[in-house]
Order: sequence, then structure tokens, then C-alpha cells
Amino acid sequence: MFNVKITGTGSYLPEKVLTNFDLEKMVDTSDEWIRTRSGIKERHIASEDEATSDLVAVAAKRAMENAGVSSSDIDLIIVATDTPDNAYPSTACWVQKHLGIKDEMPAFDLEAACSGYLYALIIAAGMIQSKLIDRVLVCAGETMSRAIDWEDRSICVLFGDGAGCSVVERSDGDSAILSTYWAADGNLGDLLIQPAGGSRMPATHETVEKKLHSLRMAGNEVFKKAVQKMKKSAEEALKRANIKGEDIDLYIPHQANIRIIEATIKRAGIPREKTAVTIDKTGNVSAATLPITLDQAVREGRLKRGDILLFTVFGGGFTWGSAVVRW
Ligand SMILES: CC(C)(COP(=O)(O)OP(=O)(O)OC[C@H]1O[C@@H](n2cnc3c(N)ncnc32)[C@H](O)[C@@H]1OP(=O)(O)O)[C@@H](O)C(=O)NCCC(=O)NCCS
Repeated sequence: MFNVKITGTGSYLPEKVLTNFDLEKMVDTSDEWIRTRSGIKERHIASEDEATSDLVAVAAKRAMENAGVSSSDIDLIIVATDTPDNAYPSTACWVQKHLGIKDEMPAFDLEAACSGYLYALIIAAGMIQSKLIDRVLVCAGETMSRAIDWEDRSICVLFGDGAGCSVVERSDGDSAILSTYWAADGNLGDLLIQPAGGSRMPATHETVEKKLHSLRMAGNEVFKKAVQKMKKSAEEALKRANIKGEDIDLYIPHQANIRIIEATIKRAGIPREKTAVTIDKTGNVSAATLPITLDQAVREGRLKRGDILLFTVFGGGFTWGSAVVRW
């Protein structure tokens, strides 16, 4: 059995920045409330002519450039997203078009809410190891601004738009995905949900009037579950890789709330200075938070080959998971 590694990363955040002070003019909130309750100071918002696939395509080009490969070297595109361009075609097919790929190759979307990138990485690794495919573009992108009720202060302050991608391929050296852990619990699905627009509740005038196409969340309950499951999955992945919390060189947790991150690292014994935080500048970009944070860490020189990296995610579904990677 050979190893699998990430050979290139890229990300893209739309140009428009919406600060907490801008939000103060839109809803009954304050910079102080948002910062102290969530750690967020600003977030990026896609322009009117940008859909999720447009953001992903920019991040994908940057990831391929970073890996030193071109689009003709890619064998599969996976896009993790909660906010696809359309129900169909998949956002991955649109990305394939934006990248100018005309060759026959598979491309598909994956929906695991905020856990999407980690799920896609695990699937890509399995496909590479089973020799189905050689090189995968593992992408995640979100236009959360399109799925938010901009009058609901408990939600609209928390999310942002952006994309992150990684090139994943066979490793003949020491770089490897050392362990993974992933799980879901559909019994708790109602706690974080976009109620309308699917087969359960198709779009009607009433669903639009009642804003049922926007994200609904039981914030406190989601918070508690996130801390519990992120701690558990981090510990489980570390145990499977036979690595201790203090031996991690970089921890990249899901960026939903700085208080969730702090509670998780305290309980899992992971040092704060080894934890990557981007939420202050991006808000929660759902599936894209992990690859955006990874790309920033790579470009800041925070990772060198051989370093031990831990990813942890938690999101709607509920879904959660972790992976230990030797960079
Ligand atoms: C949403 C979240 C930030 C709320 O923080 P909290 O400390 O739990 O705050 P509460 O929901 O208890 O609200 C406290 C008060 O602030 C108010 N409030 C909510 N949003 C506000 C805002 N933007 N500005 C000002 N006040 C606000 C509430 O109405 C409430 O007022 P009340 O006490 O008069 O009823 C937090 O629960 C959270 O981060 N949850 C998980 C989010 C998440 O991870 N989501 C995605 C999963 S991947």
C-alpha cells in the first residue's frame, strides 16, 4: 500500500470585505458582540456575478500552480459545497468548464456541509490507494451569502464566502495521510438546516415569503455538539495514528467560532500557538474553511515536509471528522 499526499494548495476570497461595522448598519448588532461571541471581525462576500464555481476555479488554478501541474494532469474533480451553482449540473462540472478541461474525466459534488473538504479528501485518498485514479483536485467552495437571511442577526454575522482547493496524489516518500476518522448523525439534522428548495419542501411563494430558503440554526445546541464531536474525532484520529496532542506541529480546526476552537483545543490538549486561526478574517466559510486555512498556512511557511498536521471538522448533518497528515 502506498501513501497519499497533498502536493499543492490554493484559495480564493472574493474582493468585497464586509466588516462588523458594516453589519452594525444592517442589523441590530455590534462589533463587540460579534467579536466576543464568535471571534469574527470581517468576512468576504462574492460579487453579484460570482457563483460558487467561479470562486472554486480561481482556487483550483492556484492549487495546480502550487503543485506544478496543469489541468490536463487532473483525473478527477470533487467539489464539496452546500451552496452549489445549481442543483444540476454539479458545481464540479462547471469548474471543469471554467478550467477549460475538454478531456473525458469524472467530476462530481459532495455535500457534507462544513465537513465536505475532509470527506472529499478521504474519498480521494481511497480512490488513489485503490488505483482507480492518480491525481484528484479536492475542492471546496461556498457562497454562504446567498443562503443567509440578511435580516437575521443571529445568522448573518457568522458566515462568509470563499474557496480552497488541494491537489492530492500518490506519495512515494514519507508524506502521508496517517489516519482518518469520519462520522455522521442524521438524527440531529433539524438543528442546522436550509428547510426549503429540495424535494421535502419545493420552492413556492410561501417558502420565499417565510424565508425558508435561508439557513436555520439552533446555535447553542450546535455549539455544544461541535465541541464534543471535534474533541472526540481529534482524539480518535490521533490515537489511530499513534500521535499525542503535543506532537502536532499544526492544528487546522473548522473555523465556525473561536470559542468552539478554544474549547476543543483545551479539552484535547492541543497547544494554542500550534492552532491555525483564520475565522477573524473570513467568518465561517463552511466546507471551504479547512482548505482556505491550509493554503494560508502553506503560504505563510507554517508547514514544512515531515510536519504533523491535524484537521478537524464539524458541520450540518451532523457530520464531523479528523485526519492526521504527515506533510
Ligand atoms: C451563534 C452563536 C455565536 C451564538 O452565541 P451565544 O453566546 O450562544 O449567544 P445566544 O444565542 O445565547 O444569544 C445571546 C443573546 O444575543 C442575541 N444575539 C444573537 N445574535 C446577535 C447579534 N448578531 N448581535 C447582537 N446580539 C445577538 C440573542 O438574541 C440573545 O439575546 P437574549 O439573551 O436577549 O435572548 C453560537 O451559539 C455559535 O457559534 N453556535 C455554533 C455556530 C456554528 O458552529 N455553526 C456552524 C456549525 S459548523
